[in-house]
Amino acid sequence: DAADVPVITIDGPTASGKGTLADEVAKLLGFNVLDSGALYRVTGLAARRAGLDLDDGDAVAAIVPTLQLRFADGHVFLGQEDVSARLRAEATGLLASQVAVHPQVRRALHQLQLDFRRLPGLVADGRDMGTAIFPDAALKVFLTASAATRAERRHKQLISKGISANIEGLRADLEARDERDKNRSTSPLEPAQDAQLLDNSALTIEASVDQMLAWWQQRRPF
Ligand code: DC
Repeated sequence: DAADVPVITIDGPTASGKGTLADEVAKLLGFNVLDSGALYRVTGLAARRAGLDLDDGDAVAAIVPTLQLRFADGHVFLGQEDVSARLRAEATGLLASQVAVHPQVRRALHQLQLDFRRLPGLVADGRDMGTAIFPDAALKVFLTASAATRAERRHKQLISKGISANIEGLRADLEARDERDKNRSTSPLEPAQDAQLLDNSALTIEASVDQMLAWWQQRRPF
């Protein structure tokens, strides 16, 4: 029964470090990972490639069941194509945020996300993991970091990949994306009532992981 599979949710804004934290915690606990943002990103990318109007929620939702999606070793395949790098691009994040406002699209992706709930457990990151998708999660964390910190981290990440970027522009982009994610009517970005708040602006990844594990220990037995 899926209800017997423990879930840890990590929600929060763009570039708050959710993905890294989710991967680390999952690795230490031997759990599966759901990067729900990747599903919105791949939907946005496929919709754009199909030439769809991204404001047309019905049209975008209709392509979801046709996507030949495969997740393997941290890579995402759309048909035969490895779209992992393309999915991480800033431009794709923007497409994702646009298609994510539609309730039809969110509904179309709902079951796909539930399917990741498999033994021995799941760490799911996104915007509405603790509120809409896994409301019965055993541990819910809402991760934040200041906009300045997040822009700086994103900047470093891009520079290390040899991609030039402007820190002010990055900050403006991520603030615009946060606004859209917070203000949409369906499953907006907000902490679940029973979420632990974690501001990692001044924390190392290791310190954030330790905090998560300490909270998890308190929730045993699992
Ligand atoms: O976490 P991310 O940056 O990969 O997410 C990209 C966009 O997808 C984000 O701006 C909003 C949307 N998203 C969402 O609406 N719900 C989720 N659970 C995950 C992502």
